Amino acid sequence: MDKPKVVLGVSGGIAAYKACELLRRFTESGHGVRVVPTASALHFVGAATWSALSGNPVATEVWDDVHQVPHVRIGQHADLVVVAPATADMLAKAAHGLADDLLTNTLLTARCPVVFAPAMHTEMWEHPATQDNVATLRRRGAVVIEPAVGRLTGVDTGKGRLPDPAEIFEVCRRVLARGVTEPDLRGRHVVVSAGGTREPLDPVRFLGNRSSGKQGYALARTAAARGARVTLVSANAGLPDPAGVDVVRVGTAVQLREAVLKAAADADAVVMAAAVADFRPAVYATGKIKKRDGQDPDPIVLVRNPDILAEISADRARPGQVVVGFAAETDDVLANGRAKLARKGCDLLVVNEVGEARTFGSEENEAVVLGADGSETPVPHGPKEALADTVWDLVVRRLA
Ligand code: CTP
Repeated sequence: MDKPKVVLGVSGGIAAYKACELLRRFTESGHGVRVVPTASALHFVGAATWSALSGNPVATEVWDDVHQVPHVRIGQHADLVVVAPATADMLAKAAHGLADDLLTNTLLTARCPVVFAPAMHTEMWEHPATQDNVATLRRRGAVVIEPAVGRLTGVDTGKGRLPDPAEIFEVCRRVLARGVTEPDLRGRHVVVSAGGTREPLDPVRFLGNRSSGKQGYALARTAAARGARVTLVSANAGLPDPAGVDVVRVGTAVQLREAVLKAAADADAVVMAAAVADFRPAVYATGKIKKRDGQDPDPIVLVRNPDILAEISADRARPGQVVVGFAAETDDVLANGRAKLARKGCDLLVVNEVGEARTFGSEENEAVVLGADGSETPVPHGPKEALADTVWDLVVRRLA
């Protein structure tokens, strides 16, 4: 099989150096990459670096190798164009169809999926001109990854950082795998909860569970690659932030409920992948609980936590909001799943069979997705992203 052909556009921002790592990830995983920097990008990273890392010639202008008509051919033959970093100027040019160098020409001739990973100062990102340009590009089908929040070029911090190259790569991999130029979740806001809650007993101990958060993170990542605005409510997951995803960190079930309800207010879909503790200790000891010689420990008294899935299912924040739950079962998987779906009142329930060695912490999953309409969608053993894509397929169908 031919290598997938990727065009890596680099525009002139300090984050251009991070594109070198993105390029390496593509080449090392068997993609053929043609780097097309702008003239300004070469002030940050030189042509020799791009050429050596990609193994391909590098040009910025349409006047090099004119006999090969590169301004048309590079775009026409690409399977994916990704621009990282995309400056405010580049987004403006792309949104308005300007074509004054090789990269902007390539963007006009490409008929494949296009991903922009913007990076700039917060003021430039928030400017209505930039926001309008981003909206235009998204409307036309491009995936524009939200910048990350953090330290910017100088001493200032804010939204505008280029996300981690490894995470931009993941978005590109998902977009390439799907190969569609119409991201079906664009314009949608989705909320995903992930990880496992921890219910504190005292300052050093908690009741927790073994959820790794990987399935929830895969859901967030795939939704971003399908064009959604994603809020990920993450409970103790310890995983890198997926690119383009707004991450809200929580600890306990009560905190998770608050964060999910807030984000769900304008959401088109809510997916509760988090393992939420059903109970929490009735009392929290403000000092560390000590053992006492010759005495049995005090029993731990538990009280019920709110059932967030049941609550958001019963009281939808907006009409047509799709609510998805997860169920981890050890026995009678399907029958328990059907009963749980009815009890919780959600639209879809992803039922996993779990045990000591299954699902928790692994990269793979196997499940059945039960629908309130009686449907049953088996998802064969495979990567958590494949299950995530099936969930979004079913959500998209219900949103339409
Ligand atoms: N969930 C929730 N709030 C809770 C507990 C669970 O929102 N307090 C959500 C989980 O995120 C998951 C689904 O409900 O999407 C399934 O939770 P689970 O604990 O397996 O279901 P239970 O109804 O508690 O059933 P069981 O009798 O198996 O404990």
